[in-house]
Amino acid sequence: MIYNQWYVILDSKELKNKPLRVKRLNEDLVLWRDQNGNACCIADRCCHRGVSLACGKIIEGKLECPFHGFIYDKSGKVTVIPANGKNKQVPETMKVKAYNTFEGYGLIWIWWGDEDKITREPFFFKELADFSYSTFADPWSVHYSRAIENQLDVVHLPFVHKTTIGSGNKTLVNGPVVKREDELITFYVNNIKDDGKTTPLKPDEIMDYEKLFHLQFHYPNIWQNFISDKIRAFAAFVPVDDENTIVYIRYYQRMINFPVLKQLFNYIGKVSSIVILRQDKRVVITQLPKKSDFKMDERLIMGDKPIIEYRRHRQELIERSAE
Ligand code: FES
Ligand SMILES: [Fe+2]
Repeated sequence: MIYNQWYVILDSKELKNKPLRVKRLNEDLVLWRDQNGNACCIADRCCHRGVSLACGKIIEGKLECPFHGFIYDKSGKVTVIPANGKNKQVPETMKVKAYNTFEGYGLIWIWWGDEDKITREPFFFKELADFSYSTFADPWSVHYSRAIENQLDVVHLPFVHKTTIGSGNKTLVNGPVVKREDELITFYVNNIKDDGKTTPLKPDEIMDYEKLFHLQFHYPNIWQNFISDKIRAFAAFVPVDDENTIVYIRYYQRMINFPVLKQLFNYIGKVSSIVILRQDKRVVITQLPKKSDFKMDERLIMGDKPIIEYRRHRQELIERSAE
């Protein structure tokens, strides 16, 4: 994983008024909501004798261990050890790791890194704030880097999605043009039918690329597809561990606002997103190794440019966060 980053880890609706145990970024975590509804997140293992805190209760916004009643606050500190008496000061060593959280746009992020390196709120495609959406979460048995690369892959469209978004047999891949601005990658798709005589254009030979169909990825784990001005597909690739990811797909639209019609439209959008995602999943979960790296034994081609750029910059971010 890239250190010192905000990672989307959950859809807000998943965190209700009881403790929730999840595995994310290779860690067992427990989340709950405090009295103000704010998301709290700490390691899900009691420092006393190792039970899961997620089986405990929320008491006045804090979390009580189900075994011997130690009370944890959102900073991971034990504030009360009942067996020692409520008034007895709790030693500083009585604590577990805590994670900073951010909630917005119907998503929950945690900061994975050093607290003093938090410089800003997590990035989001803010223009989506006035769209309505429906969400679907799908577990994939691959490292999240593979799930991300699949959504940066313009070469697979006529093969994996022959019956849906890749119809038309556009197997010849011009470019693609890839632009990166800090941690945001935008890539422009210009696939065409192969007449047997044409060679693909190199990225710098493509004029007016801004007018082409495009998609965006922002590190470490969110993506959007500009289907139209009023319709977008969004994905968060949530790392579970080195071999598992949950892909949260959202269908966003601002075409229809009338309540019942809106729900129906969002539902249809969600179902079509699931169909497309399942076409991807069928092949991606067979990829080996399950995790990708910048320097790995794969023979990439020009059309893989978004994937190459993703790997290169990911490597830079990993190295930078280790300094
Ligand atoms: S194991 Fe949690 S209080 Fe004892
Ligand atoms: Fe795909």
